[in-house]
Amino acid sequence: MICENIGFDTNGDLTFAGQNTAELAVKYGTPLYLLDEDRIRERCRTYIGAMASAFPGNFRVLYASKASSFKRIYEIMNEEGMGIDVVSRGEIYTAIRAGFPLEKAFFHSNNKTDADIAFAMDNGVGFFVVDNAEELYAIEREAASRSIKQKILLRLTPGIDPHTYAAISTGQVDSKFGSAIETGQAETITEEALGLSHIELMGYHCHVGSQVFDSDVFIRAADVMLDFSAQMNKKRGYLTKILNLGGGYGVRYIESQPTIDISANIAQVGEFIHSKVSELGIPMPQICMEPGRSIVADAGMTLYTVGTVKRIPGYKNYVSVDGGMTDNVRYAMYGAPYTILPAAKICVNREKMTADVVGRCCESGDVLQKDVVLPSAIKRGDILACLTTGAYHYSMASNYNRIPRPPVIMLSAGSSYVAVRRETEEDITALDI
Ligand code: LLP
Repeated sequence: MICENIGFDTNGDLTFAGQNTAELAVKYGTPLYLLDEDRIRERCRTYIGAMASAFPGNFRVLYASKASSFKRIYEIMNEEGMGIDVVSRGEIYTAIRAGFPLEKAFFHSNNKTDADIAFAMDNGVGFFVVDNAEELYAIEREAASRSIKQKILLRLTPGIDPHTYAAISTGQVDSKFGSAIETGQAETITEEALGLSHIELMGYHCHVGSQVFDSDVFIRAADVMLDFSAQMNKKRGYLTKILNLGGGYGVRYIESQPTIDISANIAQVGEFIHSKVSELGIPMPQICMEPGRSIVADAGMTLYTVGTVKRIPGYKNYVSVDGGMTDNVRYAMYGAPYTILPAAKICVNREKMTADVVGRCCESGDVLQKDVVLPSAIKRGDILACLTTGAYHYSMASNYNRIPRPPVIMLSAGSSYVAVRRETEEDITALDI
């Protein structure tokens, strides 16, 4: 199985976090997001443990909450000693409602409005990750009007191609994010930040992409960022206090993808950074990472009930489920691969069929996965499980076709509880005047 929290019980039924998935589907209804809380905590501890040995006493692990944002997840992150990356007023507000200490929050986004900046400052967000010069001055103005000095990092683009989907690459020079080192804009914005009296420049941030498997991506990014830090030290006498290397490692959605050993990878990055820093003769900055996907992705599973099974002789088969692109837009957006299987053992016969698993939206592109091999006995009422749906599913869900979003059910130590309740048609019309 692609993750150790997935298995089969003695009847051959699919289990997740040790619990029978078909029973969970009956208890909570479908479509249904499941999240394995124990796995989430374990992943936080893996990152924190690895960072603590690579950068003793001088590191931070921030959960990139865009991967999955709701109150309970911020409570869990707080309990695990994680910081957070937030990108909107909505994420900040959710963290506040969860009682998350915002001095441990890093506020991203390539386009923070003046109102966003004011909201974040009024609520004590610890760090702003500044995308560009225009934003730098907007932050200076808001900080000046409050007579405070705002801690910031500058988001720089190191010019690295991480070989992931184009839509989730961010570190190239022509990215919409950050200020490029190659064009000289990174140097200019550093000088500008150092000249502002309500800004405290704490260091630099970069993020090259998401679902990255190339293990040397962080090393290449750190190499460029540390060279730049050394240059700024030489030219301006500015010493980087924090270097944030951005998001975490890729995860396995299908058997053919690799499993990444996070601890071993971070150890390698650590070795590289220590030797680079001593070669450059600069002090070791605090190193941060911002994993999102690898904290929650394989802690998630979505359960659906099968509806129409359509066979078009000589062409193809469709298995329709009661969710779709409204709860999982990742195939439609990126062609992302998934593993989909029946929750209960279907023992009528062993014959298989290949089918596109599709949703119920009025849209041909509403596909969860093409060419899925399923038992040919699959029929209306059976439960299907889509694996590895903990990251960028609930957080990217929509109400297209006025379809309510599924609930988020947490699984922990053999029991389950509702973290986000199921949306209703009443909720959907609640904003209509
Ligand atoms: N830090 C920054 C600044 C980011 O932009 C991101 C992701 C992360 C951290 C977290 O990266 P991760 O550890 O999750 O790879 N919706 C897409 C992913 C977009 C990621 C955007 N930024 C998807 O469904 O694959």
